[in-house]
Amino acid sequence: MAPAPLLQISYSLATIENAVNQLWQSAHQYNVWAFSGEMGAGKTTFVHTLCNTLGVQDAVSSPTFALINEYHFLKDGTDRTIYHMDWYRLRDTEEAINAGMEDCVMQKNNYSFIEWPEKAPELLPHPHLWITIESTGPDTRNMTVWVK
Ligand SMILES: Nc1ncnc2c1ncn2[C@@H]1O[C@H](COP(=O)(O)OP(=O)(O)O)[C@@H](O)[C@H]1O
Ligand SMILES: [Mg+2]
Repeated sequence: MAPAPLLQISYSLATIENAVNQLWQSAHQYNVWAFSGEMGAGKTTFVHTLCNTLGVQDAVSSPTFALINEYHFLKDGTDRTIYHMDWYRLRDTEEAINAGMEDCVMQKNNYSFIEWPEKAPELLPHPHLWITIESTGPDTRNMTVWVK
């Protein structure tokens, strides 16, 4: 039998902050979050809202061109780095390692939020969160979260 998901949430842009809070409360102990979903599913939008909720002061944008965006926030009085990565343009694990992705995901005290993780799934340390976002209408999304 397949293991049950940690969480399943349906949300719209009107309720996305609730979804972010719910996920953060139940999963902040995991530091590598893989966001799987089609183009336009809402991966960047969710990461953006999450970063704002965490108090990130840096401008949060899609890391399509830089591949890695770096943000900072305070957790338990300590400065933490968020690596917001987009692996879409990477061909495979080797390219991901050469681009510095492994160095990011190995940092236990920092966070990695990864779009298009299926390009190099072998790089994800265990445990990590595998999060799927599916469109269920023009404004509604279904998120399912697994611990892998
Ligand atoms: N509930 C929702 N969650 C996230 N995005 C939504 C939602 N409803 C509508 N949208 C829209 O869908 C698009 C998602 O784009 P984006 O976050 O860039 O997707 P991705 O990073 O997965 O390619 C945005 O235009 C956003 O405004
Ligand atoms: Mg995106």
